[in-house]
Amino acid sequence: MDKLVIHGPTKLKGEVTISGAKNAAVAILPATLLIDGVCKIENLPNISDVKMYCKILQELGVKIKWITENEVEIDSRNINCTQAPLDMTSKFRASYYLLGALLGRCGTAEVGLPGGCNLGARPIDQHIKAFEALGAKVEVAQGKITAKVKKLVGNSIYMDIVSVGATINAILASVLAEGTTTIDNAAKEPHIVDVANFLNTMGADIRGAGTDVIKINGVKKLHGKASYSVVPDQIEAGTFMLAAVASRGNILIKNCIPEHLDCITAKILEIGGSVEDYGDSIRVSMNKRPNKAIVKTLPYPGYPTDLQPQIGVVLAIAEGTSTIHESIWESRFQYSFELNKMGAKITAQGKTAIFEGVKDLNGAPVYATDLRAGAALLIAGIIADGETQLYNIEHIDRGYEDIEEKFRSLGANIERVTEPDEK
Ligand code: EPZ
Repeated sequence: MDKLVIHGPTKLKGEVTISGAKNAAVAILPATLLIDGVCKIENLPNISDVKMYCKILQELGVKIKWITENEVEIDSRNINCTQAPLDMTSKFRASYYLLGALLGRCGTAEVGLPGGCNLGARPIDQHIKAFEALGAKVEVAQGKITAKVKKLVGNSIYMDIVSVGATINAILASVLAEGTTTIDNAAKEPHIVDVANFLNTMGADIRGAGTDVIKINGVKKLHGKASYSVVPDQIEAGTFMLAAVASRGNILIKNCIPEHLDCITAKILEIGGSVEDYGDSIRVSMNKRPNKAIVKTLPYPGYPTDLQPQIGVVLAIAEGTSTIHESIWESRFQYSFELNKMGAKITAQGKTAIFEGVKDLNGAPVYATDLRAGAALLIAGIIADGETQLYNIEHIDRGYEDIEEKFRSLGANIERVTEPDEK
């Protein structure tokens, strides 16, 4: 088991380049199942979730050729199986996209019930509602979901909840359906637009992605024969923006889309930081203790839940008392118990947490409870006095490419240590 040993405090300074978006990549990879041809994907983040997805696709008969560690050629012409390996998919949340993609391409799909990460209940009723609206029969039994249809036919789908996953799954299932599908109350995150752009590049006809009404005119076939570059990761960029603020540093964040970061920029300005926009990069700096703030997580373009723990670190050391309302996930404050071990004063109850700002954090042994909690605790270790040992970092490796290398290049003192497994 690896752990990170961090010695702080460090003011982060320098330049960092953002990788391709994890949450776009884990939707684009299964979307390749819809293509009766060969395509190339560039700017794939080199993270364990992407590697896991590629393994799952190979099990289904997809041929994958790595060109570099961020570029891959995918040949989905000869899919020979529609049952995704249960042991892999049940551990992996984004495996739910296999349902929409396999249903769309083959009319049948079997996937293990997507395993929880530690964010609370993660229902998939809206995904099922979308598949049923297109004519599929869906069964959930014995730890797996089975979906079957003779012919998918376009229909109107109204999402009762704004859901990233259900919106993407509805798109995947309807791209090759007969006729037109309309998704109302669709999610608008940048990775929804990226998946639609990818599919359109391969011959699909999807309009309105990025608004709350998406129209998909079914096409007969997706041709492949094209390259696509994954959008820069909004959440990785936001993580470095907040790390600059927490450490009272100055970071130039390259290869990002500043418009995707507006909601984070607004909060950083509110708490006293500075953000300069250079079109495809931004500079974030902070030279004083942050001001207190109220943050409420919301679907895009609101403040993202996936940057909630990271801003939690900033508010933990802010002047005065701050509040975060988490409106997406029921258990996303587990990191607060770890931060309290480092001297923070956070009281979390249900979906609200109160942060009584302290001047400094102190190093301590802490445990990443999920991916974004891990990123937040890494930032906390960088700004804390003394040594922090961060455990369970496999969560971080799922979603951040070269994270400790990137922080090291900004001046952080981080070492990855492999501890022998207990017998
Ligand atoms: C995606 O999860 C992301 N994962 C999550 O990122 C992110 O936190 C989340 O969107 C919200 O932005 C991927 O893209 C792989 P949702 P997803 O469906 O699609 C409820 C990270 O750290 N809901 O938008 O699973 C649900 O309970 C991860 O990178 C239903 O009730 O999220 C939640 O309260 C963690 N029924 C809300 O909707 C459904 O059928 C939004 O969930 C589906 C969702």
